[in-house]
Amino acid sequence: MQTIPDELRRRLCQHGQEHVLTGWERLDASQRAQFVAQLDSLDLDELQRLHARRHAKDAIPEFRRLASLPQPVESAAQLAEYRRLGEKAMRAGEVAFLVVAGGQGTRLGFDHPKGMFPVGPVSGKSLYQLHAEKVLAFSRRYGKPFPFLVLTSSATRAETEEFIANEHDYFGLDPNQVDLLCQRDMPALDFDSGKLLLEAPGKLALSPNGHGGTLAALRGYREFDVLEWKLVRTIFYFQVDNPLTDLGDLEFLGRHLAQRAEVSTKILPKKHPKEKMGNLVLVDGNCSIIEYSDLPDDWANRQTTDGNLFFWAGNTAIHLFHLQFLQRVAIDPVGIPWHLAKKKVPYLGPDGKLGEPARENALKFERFIFDVLPLAERWTVAATTRARDFEPLKNATGDDSPDTVRRALIHQAATWLEQAGVTVPRDAQGQIASVLEISPLFALDSQELQAKIKPGLRIGPSLYLA
Ligand code: UTP
Repeated sequence: MQTIPDELRRRLCQHGQEHVLTGWERLDASQRAQFVAQLDSLDLDELQRLHARRHAKDAIPEFRRLASLPQPVESAAQLAEYRRLGEKAMRAGEVAFLVVAGGQGTRLGFDHPKGMFPVGPVSGKSLYQLHAEKVLAFSRRYGKPFPFLVLTSSATRAETEEFIANEHDYFGLDPNQVDLLCQRDMPALDFDSGKLLLEAPGKLALSPNGHGGTLAALRGYREFDVLEWKLVRTIFYFQVDNPLTDLGDLEFLGRHLAQRAEVSTKILPKKHPKEKMGNLVLVDGNCSIIEYSDLPDDWANRQTTDGNLFFWAGNTAIHLFHLQFLQRVAIDPVGIPWHLAKKKVPYLGPDGKLGEPARENALKFERFIFDVLPLAERWTVAATTRARDFEPLKNATGDDSPDTVRRALIHQAATWLEQAGVTVPRDAQGQIASVLEISPLFALDSQELQAKIKPGLRIGPSLYLA
């Protein structure tokens, strides 16, 4: 039976972490081997340094280095040229779609990966299905099998694979189009003492290392080589919890290509100064994001000389990345900072039982993908609207909940139908009075719907176009 390697025991003792070996004698051979590998992979010096930062707020740049993001102004001719370039790139199959789905979805409180949550207002289709069907429909429209990459984590990998591959046969996509990647975990530390937390003997309490973990995952899976081989130049990055994401925005893509950008981001005017969205600003002229939680109150309310909010531009987390840019920054993700969060993490107490803490007890560490934005030499932004692109599923009730997401999907379907000349039933207050859903396989946008809709379509209490 394996014993604890001396070197490992010495390192753990040096860092005051030898308590993790409690219960070692009860582990079987394979558990021991796994645990040793897990402990060996830890950078205990780095964890110690990170723990020392636990009371510090994330550093934000001095205000004098900032400039408000300019409102993009473009002519109709420019936009038409962007659409032409975007379409050309789609026809050439130069785009891959990457959805990040490794989060734990704690706020939603669903027992499965968030991507499995049913949101289709009539069909009950899951988030995964809606995204996959959009990729399938674009693959059909442009005659190219666009790669569809799904970033999972140890929290979501197994169920996601079972759901997408086995239960749903890749939702009609060619299995060669779909790659499930798995990001790494980071251990949680006791907030006060910095000690590693265990969830069971021989098992550290871990959590996914943030959507910034995308970079190491792409590199670790040699995905850059695969995408280069498939002649992909641009990665369309988005979040699993936002079913409205418009994957076929040709202006967004064309502008990115025309300006030879390394990064492009879709932004939204914030609803109010303290809205919980990342804020896009210029720092020393580079495109950057300041998290809402880091934005001081007096900054949030600041105005520009023309009376607009200084921090007006909210991050939708919809980005385009030039493949070679991501490849370059993924070589050395060490430069990308860790963000620290105080969270509740259940852990094995001295009595050998897993306890649910009454208050936030632990430090968790995450890297954020948007920390690569300032590294881009050339970038573009595109303003969008919530109705077109953004209604994320975050909470069980209230804002950003299943209810608001379904309503947004219904609203989008109603808009497209009305644009196609169909009368949508509305109540006395003008609210949509039917449950509406348009499958991505039926129409991806209002133009496609107009071309397909039968004249004289009448809508009853519910309508599902599939
Ligand atoms: P969020 O942090 O907003 O949501 O992630 P969450 O992690 O799903 O849920 P909470 O915060 O625990 O309630 C935004 C997006 O980033 C992905 C999520 O899956 C979601 O699509 N993400 C987040 C990852 O892929 N990996 C991570 O480590 C964290």
